[in-house]
Order: sequence, then structure tokens, then C-alpha cells
Amino acid sequence: MRYVVTGGAGFIGSNTVDELVRRGHRVTVFDDLSSGKQHNLARIGDKIDFVQGTITDAAAVSAACRGADYVLHLAARTSVPRSVKDPVETNHVNVDGTVNVLVAARDAGVRRVVFASSSAIYGETPTLPKREDMPPAPISPYGVTKLVGELYGNMFQHVYGVEFVSLRYFNVFGPRQDPGSPYSGVLSLFIAAMRNGGAPLIYGDGEQSRDFTYVENVVNANLQAFEAPGVAGMAFNLGTGGRYTLNETLRVLEKFAGRTADANYTQPRPGDIRDSQADISRAREKLGFNPRISFEEGLRRTWDWYSARQ
Ligand code: UD1
Repeated sequence: MRYVVTGGAGFIGSNTVDELVRRGHRVTVFDDLSSGKQHNLARIGDKIDFVQGTITDAAAVSAACRGADYVLHLAARTSVPRSVKDPVETNHVNVDGTVNVLVAARDAGVRRVVFASSSAIYGETPTLPKREDMPPAPISPYGVTKLVGELYGNMFQHVYGVEFVSLRYFNVFGPRQDPGSPYSGVLSLFIAAMRNGGAPLIYGDGEQSRDFTYVENVVNANLQAFEAPGVAGMAFNLGTGGRYTLNETLRVLEKFAGRTADANYTQPRPGDIRDSQADISRAREKLGFNPRISFEEGLRRTWDWYSARQ
């Protein structure tokens, strides 16, 4: 089978491409390297096709998708605060880019598109854990773009017959998450600060919570979403099913580092949701999803991975 992975040089993408290659599939990685890194693919570089291009370039995406059986669409602007700062740019990449990917998949006769959606689509719906049948109510431009992506995909399935599955990721973390920007995922930033002797920065009181999910847990689900029968047109939460406050994550990192975090607290970020936790029963049932790596174990592995790189 031939897979195209948009955003395949990124954090979740490159971890998934490793597994696709291990299973003997042919893979084209389509990535503009705006946040992805070619060195994430270094170990498998000779086993894949790499195309540097942006999903906002319709012709380039179409060329990359020609002859593909499956498309895993991960390329996106992934940061909530970045979308608050520049909603037009996030909309352009995440919405126009997704439409380009869907058109390319349709024209190439792709069997199924799997789309990286987000827990951000739920917004501030007060009930926890979040279930897929709750009405979405995103409170950031980013969350809106992910919801629109789901709607576009389902519409493409309906109108053009392109099978489409949405995976609503819950704060995925782990090896290769890049702490290089203030827009990076919070755990990568916390670990970098704790390792470099710096002080983590907390937006708000640190009591906001997330269902932090170790990347290995979602890699298998990404691939299952292509093979599982009867799931086209559906959305799935991919989380661990628990939740941790930011303050709690720092307590764990303090133990690893053997020192106090001495975090700085500042104003909450506009657009942020307060609490997030996934009900994963649908993914368990339909995708055989089984998040084997706990939050603590994942954080330990991630800490060790960053340590080994220094
Ligand atoms: C994250 C992902 C998003 C994904 C969503 C659900 C990133 C950058 N964002 O969004 O793509 O769709 O999960 O899977 O990976 N915070 C601090 N200090 C910092 C950075 C962040 O206190 O230095 C706080 C934020 O204010 C927020 C929480 O940590 O309350 C999480 O922030 P972040 O890691 O950016 O993730 P989400 O916005 O939840």
C-alpha cells in the first residue's frame, strides 16, 4: 500500500512514518519543514519518498497524492495562541490546506483520508470526559479550523465518496516534540526548562488540566483508522482517559530533575480551554485503541529521550 503523510516530518508524523516503514508500506512524506524536521526522518530517509511542499499549494499536494491508496493528513498550524495571534494564517493553512488535500485525495482515487483533528473542537463544554457525540464549541481560531476540517472531510465523503476518519488528539507528547518555539507543546517546554536549569512558565494558576497522551499510543490508532471496518465518517477521541494539571506535571518533572521547578506564573492565555479529558470508549471499541503507555511512563521515556540527546 502507498501512503501519503502530510506533516510526516513532524512530531506525530515522523513517529507514524517509522511504523509504516516498519510494516513494509511505501510512504511519501509531504512536508514544508515549517515545523517538521528532516532529521526526524534521518534513520529511514532511504526508505521513503520525501517531497518538500506546502498543503496551501494545490498542485504540489495533487502531485504528491497521485497513485496513493491512503492519506494521513497531519500538516497544520498546531498552536492555539499562534491562531489567536494570526487567525488568517492558521485558517489559510488548516482550512484551505485541508481542502487542497481532500481534492487531491479525491482526484487520486484515494481509499481513505485520516485527519488529525483535536480535542480543541470541544471548547468549554462543561462535562468531562469529552465524548464524541457532544456538540462542538471551539473557543480558539485553531479549534474552529479543526472542526471545519472535520466538516469538510465528512462532506467530501458524502458528496465525492472519499472515505474520511477524524482523530481528535488529546495533547500528544513524546520524543521529537520540538521545544524550539514559544508555541511548542507545554511538556516539551517544561522538560527543556527543567533540563537547562531554567524556570517553566505557567499561563494562569497551573490548575488547568490536560489528558496528556504519549505518542506511541496514537501511532497504532493512526494506522488502525485506515484498516478498521465501518468507521468511515466517524470521529474518535485519542487520549489516555485521565487528566493532569500543569502543576502536577511539574511535580513529576521535579522528581526526575532532582530539583524544584520554581515556575513563573503569568496571565492565562486567551483561547485556552480549562480542562480536557477524553472518553476513549468509542476508539477502544471500533479501532481497538489501547493506550498502553501511562502518562507517568510516557513522561519518563520522554525525559530520557531529551536527556540522551544532550
Ligand atoms: C495542544 C496542541 C494542539 C492540539 C491540542 C489537543 C501543541 C502546541 N498544541 O493544544 O495542537 O490540537 O493539544 O491535542 O502541541 N502552557 C503553559 N506554559 C507554556 C506553554 C503552555 O502554562 O510554556 C499552558 C497553556 O496555557 C495551556 C496548556 O499549557 O493551558 C497546554 O498548552 P499547549 O501545550 O499549547 O496545548 P493545547 O493548547 O492544549
